[in-house]
Amino acid sequence: MLVAGNWKSNKSFNEAKEFANAFAAMPAAPAGVEVMIAPPAPYLAAMGEAQLPFRLGAQNVSATGPGAFTGEFTAEMLAGSGVQDVIVGHSERRDGFGDDDKVVAEKVSRVLDAGLRVIFCCGESLQDRQTDVHFDKVLRQLESAVLHLPAEAMDRVVVAYEPIWAIGTGLTASEDQAQEMHAAIRGWLREAFDEATAKSIPLLYGGSCKPANADQLFACEDVDGGLIGGAALDPDSFRALVEAAGRVSEARQQAEAS
Ligand code: PGA
Repeated sequence: MLVAGNWKSNKSFNEAKEFANAFAAMPAAPAGVEVMIAPPAPYLAAMGEAQLPFRLGAQNVSATGPGAFTGEFTAEMLAGSGVQDVIVGHSERRDGFGDDDKVVAEKVSRVLDAGLRVIFCCGESLQDRQTDVHFDKVLRQLESAVLHLPAEAMDRVVVAYEPIWAIGTGLTASEDQAQEMHAAIRGWLREAFDEATAKSIPLLYGGSCKPANADQLFACEDVDGGLIGGAALDPDSFRALVEAAGRVSEARQQAEAS
């Protein structure tokens, strides 16, 4: 299970340090649970130097290499700053900052080439769902950014399904809606790669996931954790999500052993 927090453009540098200290004072994550936090980019290098009890993620990366690209930062720069994971294809970037499928595919490749892990986001709008094209939409996003990747890079790919209508809205996909899309993504990965690859890729759910609904969402067969926005801003609520993932991880280990 992976619980990944995306702070978006929130928190002062001091607030980020306070969170890190509060989280570090809590017990270690339960067995089988990985934790990641993606703070705003200006804090990455300092957080990368601190001994933090979570993986460090970036919320964005340049689609270019080094050179005369004012304001951009490359995947290699992130790697050199202690970043391990990079979120690519978030709907807020697709919709507001020109990250179309081509740019997203380029960013995914650059992240993997730099040796980092990518958290690739996909998801449909409310209109897509209402017009019954949500599966097509999500699978097409996967096709354009993931299909061309070499099989050996797939162990550094995480897929986050984030229905746009559920992000920051308080609306959450039902367990059935989450599970059926995750199963479709898993099926697509099986076709595009193979059974072992499809099984090993963590599929995260994102969209108003919070302590009150995490147990049910994480318990879905094809949900392997969450990409968390609002509920990742407070150490206690984020910790509660980590605990929820721990309960599911333990239950899955017991089921496998029996
Ligand atoms: P939310 O954001 O949890 O605040 O809905 C999720 C995301 O955008 O990753």
